[in-house]
Amino acid sequence: MALIAKHCEEWGFFQLVNHGISEELLERVKKVCTEFFKLEREQNFKQSPLFKSLSDLPDGQKLENVDWEDVITLLDHNEWPSKTLGFKETMAEYRAELRKLAGQVMEVMDENLGLPKGYIKNAFNSGGEEAFFGTKVNHYPPCPKPEMVNGLRAHTDAGGVIMLFQDDVVGGLEVLKDGEWFDVQPMRNSIVINTGDQVEVLSNGRYKSAWHRVQAKPDGNRMSIASFYNPSMKATIAPAPQLVENGGVGVEAFGYPEFVFGDYMSVYAEQKFDPKEPRFQAVRAM
Ligand code: OGA
Ligand code: NI
Repeated sequence: MALIAKHCEEWGFFQLVNHGISEELLERVKKVCTEFFKLEREQNFKQSPLFKSLSDLPDGQKLENVDWEDVITLLDHNEWPSKTLGFKETMAEYRAELRKLAGQVMEVMDENLGLPKGYIKNAFNSGGEEAFFGTKVNHYPPCPKPEMVNGLRAHTDAGGVIMLFQDDVVGGLEVLKDGEWFDVQPMRNSIVINTGDQVEVLSNGRYKSAWHRVQAKPDGNRMSIASFYNPSMKATIAPAPQLVENGGVGVEAFGYPEFVFGDYMSVYAEQKFDPKEPRFQAVRAM
């Protein structure tokens, strides 16, 4: 509990081992996601305009406003890839486990923050809708000119609790702490947890959402699967009154705004790769 509290406060990131998700399932997830990329995505990526723009780019320049990655998003009710044997079944099983894990992680945060048990989860499930749970299956293919493009540009995550199952071998994820970038080193079958902008607001800034980015690499195809437990689009998010001086008086004056998460996402869609403070300002004005 203390270690998690410390890392939430100081880093906004930590790696979870002994998380209770079976190794057998994690091995299957790696297998189906690797096969899915090979079978259903790789060819397209190699023929994409992005691939061509990079080959055409003169030396010394950098491709801006793009990321060297291939992404699909799995939700409860969208269409999932169906050609790769076992992909749907395995990923459904994986998502069910990760949804449970999110619940456990949020309870640990509740307790560490001195909030009633279930506080964060309830906040995310408010507004008459269930929390928004998504899974991004990302691949970062080997990049012929890694110094000329980002794997994924620096950003903070918009949502709540993010759980990343990253490649065992190929690194590239970095987190910013005190002005310096640190590697999030691959650790076999661990789950990397980080807190998004909504946890920063709820915790009234005790748990900051940290900047992170992915470096493109010349060798190896990096897989990462990011699952996010976010508020429902209709949920109202605000600093927990218990964490605001004087028990909630002057919440507005203190800094973090109160807003509807869907409004925040509209702002985020335009400003994902910018600092979060102007997003808080913009949503306050809505
Ligand atoms: C993200 C993210 C990191 C990674 O999807 O928001 O930060 O390693 N991903 O893919
Ligand atoms: Ni991110």
